[in-house]
Amino acid sequence: MKLRCISCGATPASAAQDFRCTVCGDLLEFFFPGWTSDAFSFDAATLKSLWLNRRTSRDALDQSGVWRFRELLPHIPNPEEHVITLREGNTPLYRLPRCARAVGVENLHAKHQGMNPTASFKDTGMTVAASSAHQGGFRWVACASTGNTSASMAAYAARGNMHSLVLIPEGQISWGKLSQSLDYGALTCQLRTDFDGCVRILNELVRQKPVYLLNSVNPYRIEGQKTAAIELMEQLAWEPPDHIIVPGGNLGNSSAIGKALLEMRELKLISRLPKLSIIQAHGANPFYRSVREFGGKKLEPMTADTLATAIRIGNPASWKKAVRVLEATGGEVEEVSEVEIAAAKAEIGADGIGCEPASAVTLAGLKRLRRSGFVKAGEAVVLILTGHLLKDPDFTIKFHRGDLFAGTGDAVEAVQTKHLQRAPVELDANLGAVIGALDAAERNS
Ligand code: F0G
Repeated sequence: MKLRCISCGATPASAAQDFRCTVCGDLLEFFFPGWTSDAFSFDAATLKSLWLNRRTSRDALDQSGVWRFRELLPHIPNPEEHVITLREGNTPLYRLPRCARAVGVENLHAKHQGMNPTASFKDTGMTVAASSAHQGGFRWVACASTGNTSASMAAYAARGNMHSLVLIPEGQISWGKLSQSLDYGALTCQLRTDFDGCVRILNELVRQKPVYLLNSVNPYRIEGQKTAAIELMEQLAWEPPDHIIVPGGNLGNSSAIGKALLEMRELKLISRLPKLSIIQAHGANPFYRSVREFGGKKLEPMTADTLATAIRIGNPASWKKAVRVLEATGGEVEEVSEVEIAAAKAEIGADGIGCEPASAVTLAGLKRLRRSGFVKAGEAVVLILTGHLLKDPDFTIKFHRGDLFAGTGDAVEAVQTKHLQRAPVELDANLGAVIGALDAAERNS
């Protein structure tokens, strides 16, 4: 395993504190030169059966849905001492029958990364990067976050007896996420800025203080997040779907899933590549505009604004990596409106699954990709749901009460979502009133 700069190709022996290339300042990634040599002793069939057998093991590393795939991850020396695991990964793949009917595709699944220990996909990358911090002997780890990275980091830091510093934009993250980082014992700083402002300050901090940076510019995070795609292929008996659809914020996750797909093909674990498509909220769409307006050659940062606070990001760090995976897999980029996000979230909920707003951009984006003809009715599609429904109950309750868009410019468009709203019914405490509500609901169903 070696580090390489994604732009100039420099291969530093170790990473600087900010995980940027010391020659040109761009991002680093891991690559595995040994895989193409005869010394790599695993063929595809051996790897598949090795990983499957670990599912019955009592070993903590084998029980983790990340470390189970450790042959494709950076090596952590003395794993018994340094690996911090909450048995992350191992997330379910669900069929979405109602959503499939509504969208007009026959074969629609959701890989629910919100079923991780801290209820978001961040845990899969965090176990690898936090273990690397532990192995490096760091006392402090830190991140800037829209809420999920911070929740995950705080948990893994606590489990590994490290201190954690969280920088979050004041008033722009959900209560569920904030409460997690408080309970897991992080030093939580709410800065009077947005996510991009938090990132700027953190980058300066890590150059001055011996704190270990746990944002997704850290290539260990990307390696761990690859395993969602590996586990997905295993769940599909190594038969890739036609499309995988992910939300795009800072663009670490799309980069990771794309990297996994390319590596799996290189190792002949899969024979063809799914198209990986990335969806952004219209109010936080710098990557969409980069690809559509500039062919992915440059990215203009913006001031981001969306109720899907997890992806309220105007200057995504990993945009060049994401351009590469779009091109390599033939995927598409889309943007969706606030109302489309809210409707899609309620539809995923009505399938008995649920997710947080940022995850719902995937279904909203799929609807657009169906309309444009990019996704065909007979094709198999997997949505990556990144966070759990309970991360942001405020959004959900406001939506169902009909308050989410009240008094905003979206109020008119939001009328179309009325049929999805299920406001609580307030009744006197008597049987007749409840039976009346039941009968009324039956008549309307
Ligand atoms: N979905 C959820 C629920 C997220 O929390 C995030 C990012 C994304 C999607 C986008 O993933 O950044 O890899 O493109 N949340 C980060 C955080 C930024 O700080 O929790 P991405």
